[in-house]
Amino acid sequence: MAMPEPAATGGTSAEPGKCVPPARPEVERLKAYSAPLEGRRGMLRLDFNENTIGPSPLVAQVLRNFSTEEIAVYPEYDGLREALVQNLLETGCRPGLLPEQVGLFNGIDAAIHAVFQAYGSAGETLLTTSPTFGYYTPCAGMQGMTIEAIPYQGETFDFPLAAIQEALAARAPRLLLICNPNNPTGTRLPADQLIALAASAPGSLVVVDELYEAFTGDSVLPCADFTATPNLLVFRSLAKTAGLAGLRIGFAIGHADVVDRVSRVTGPYDVNSVAVAAAFAALADQPYVDAYVAEVLRARDWTLEALRQAGVRHHCAGGNYLLIWPQRPVAEVDGALRREGILIRPMAGKPLIDGCFRVSIGTTSQMQRFMAAFLPLER
Ligand SMILES: Cc1ncc(COP(=O)(O)O)c(C=O)c1O
Repeated sequence: MAMPEPAATGGTSAEPGKCVPPARPEVERLKAYSAPLEGRRGMLRLDFNENTIGPSPLVAQVLRNFSTEEIAVYPEYDGLREALVQNLLETGCRPGLLPEQVGLFNGIDAAIHAVFQAYGSAGETLLTTSPTFGYYTPCAGMQGMTIEAIPYQGETFDFPLAAIQEALAARAPRLLLICNPNNPTGTRLPADQLIALAASAPGSLVVVDELYEAFTGDSVLPCADFTATPNLLVFRSLAKTAGLAGLRIGFAIGHADVVDRVSRVTGPYDVNSVAVAAAFAALADQPYVDAYVAEVLRARDWTLEALRQAGVRHHCAGGNYLLIWPQRPVAEVDGALRREGILIRPMAGKPLIDGCFRVSIGTTSQMQRFMAAFLPLER
């Protein structure tokens, strides 16, 4: 096999005549996923759809009291699945959900990775939409899967339902991944249509990534019967609403056998003890999360009205984010806002939305600060 050129970055190049061992061909072809940049602390972070005010005081208290004994021992997961099930049932999930139907992951990124490792073989197809969350395609790529990404439709980025139905029927993909509401277009597909898609394709694993469902209220879980549609798997997280993004914890909910397969490809202690303790506390303070979501929705209304009045082209459908097409080049706007201590996410290179940026929605006062910095750039 041909050896790749020695790596030439960051002083890690090999000595003359020595070669870096090649990774799997699929990995050699991958471009690293660009994760959040460094240096974001102290800024108004409207770039990665995180909770912008931090977690419940109960979480902070648990972390302050975290003992050295708890740090020294491997994590224990007893009770966390039960606590999540309890929380899901209280927030509208279909009755009958059991703890063994919940998988714990080191963030949803790890759950996505595990789904691909467990289900995606080389040559099989990932069916998804475009543009969507950026981590699905590298995971498919590292498995050597073929990617079929169907574009959202029209100026309002409608869900391409007929094309997805057709592709499901024609090609029986191994995986169908739908982000609902979609990041970044906010596109929503009603729960009954998601379930109908899963029911129509029993040989495909249909994954619904609903990290932002709290901002729309249309989760698939109230309608999901995992005995009738065992090929449906749902992602939930405490990153975007409860403010635990930095602790990395996420949940995959589905048929116990699917959760078992996805969990088999993760390490036994992948979720750390601090994240577990914080998750218990966050789940115990649902009113805090509800109040944060309500404030984001108020801030969204305020922002949309301000954009309308200023005549700025924008698109907002679901989730704690919206898209804005500025008059100046996005890179210029990004730079100017950054100098004001405000971070946004340019969508450069993304199909259909190249030329706009995504701004996360925080509190009303944070959005007022954003608009005060952004609107002068439109003149
Ligand atoms: C749609 C979607 N899925 C998954 C993730 C990853 O979530 P986590 O922080 O739990 O890994 C994100 C993060 O931005 C996301 O937007």
